[in-house]
Amino acid sequence: MEKTLVLIKPNGVQRGLVGQVLHRYERKGLKMTGLKLLHLSAEKAAQLYAPHQGKPFYQSLVDFMTSDPLVAVCLEGQNTIEIVRLINGATDPAESQPGTIRGDFSNHLTENVVHASDSVENATRELQILFDPGEIL
Ligand code: CMP
Repeated sequence: MEKTLVLIKPNGVQRGLVGQVLHRYERKGLKMTGLKLLHLSAEKAAQLYAPHQGKPFYQSLVDFMTSDPLVAVCLEGQNTIEIVRLINGATDPAESQPGTIRGDFSNHLTENVVHASDSVENATRELQILFDPGEIL
């Protein structure tokens, strides 16, 4: 069994997409083992996006992610990391397929509704930033 972190980004929450986004993971049969609404601190955003520090989009990404509340989700199941990335769709709006979350709801590289971990190592690291141990069931 694999765990992954999903973030429904501030624009996903503001646009009222939380239910529709969660439904896509649930209907695929992924198990939700952690869920919370929070305002991400600058410190946690810096930890989360440390691998992107120094890239041209880094500061605008951190500013956006700390601008308004987001929803953090822990999903669990076989091959969850790969499955969630398929459900989310490509980061580049020109490549995200219709039927994916980004393909259906986003036309923006940074404000792309969802984030998901891209590897087992990053999932473990990112889940520790967003959730205290007792918050994942
Ligand atoms: P996310 O899954 O949150 O992880 C890193 C984020 O950086 C990515 O989604 C995009 O929203 C954002 N981003 C902004 N510009 C770029 C870019 N040029 N290449 C990759 N990611 C970018």
